[in-house]
Amino acid sequence: MRLNLKIWRQAGPRTPGRLVEYVADDVSPDMSFLEMLDVVNETLIRSGQDAIAFDSDCREGICGMCSLVVNGVPHGPDRGTTVCQLHMRRFKDGDTIVVEPWRAKAFPVVKDLVVDRSAFDRIIAAGGYVSINVGGAPDGNTIPIPKEIVETAMDSAACIGCGACVAACKNASAHLFLSAKLSQLGLLPQGQPERYQRVVGMIEQADTEGFGSCSNEGECEAVCPKEIPISNIARMTRDYFRAAWTAGK
Ligand code: SF4
Ligand code: FES
Repeated sequence: MRLNLKIWRQAGPRTPGRLVEYVADDVSPDMSFLEMLDVVNETLIRSGQDAIAFDSDCREGICGMCSLVVNGVPHGPDRGTTVCQLHMRRFKDGDTIVVEPWRAKAFPVVKDLVVDRSAFDRIIAAGGYVSINVGGAPDGNTIPIPKEIVETAMDSAACIGCGACVAACKNASAHLFLSAKLSQLGLLPQGQPERYQRVVGMIEQADTEGFGSCSNEGECEAVCPKEIPISNIARMTRDYFRAAWTAGK
């Protein structure tokens, strides 16, 4: 396939960026989207030009590093799929593809398609630790937990912290990410001692980082590569109100 690419190039955080046109030739339908960009970069490097900067690590949909907006959609057109797992067979010969970085004030562009997502690390740190002594690995059945609860907590733990939910939201809200991280602990007995201080700490840190509020658009759920449901946000909001009420705020 021959594809026309329009790729966001930006030399640094304070430099204005722009879309630059490239042609990708001999693209195999079996290539992943990132492999296609690798080939474009090899061509740029061979001709002495600056390679396009983009993030990736596992390329298996598990680390959350890849972060491209493809034709206006974070992670591209395939539902429940990270952009590293998106394949070029999804496109047709002659297509024009626009590639941009996550866009949110709290995720400033570092270079080209790379954004700084360290705000998520600070939110996780604000959640603090689980204080109970868990000791060694216990037998699986020493703490009886209903299967439905375990599965909901595990589904929440599938969040890879990619930030696509923020990129898709018109408010740049991090609520889907926050609520997934809070649910994976808040649903389980081990997460109860700090459940309410954790929700307050993480939401306040998200506000400090400049993420917006949730207005129930549902865009986050639509683009989440791990299909985290927005029902987590309702659970987080209930916990937050309970924590605020108890603290007399
Ligand atoms: S909730 Fe989904 S979109 Fe948001 S950070 Fe987690 S995996 Fe990524
Ligand atoms: S590179 Fe790890 S999830 Fe895409």
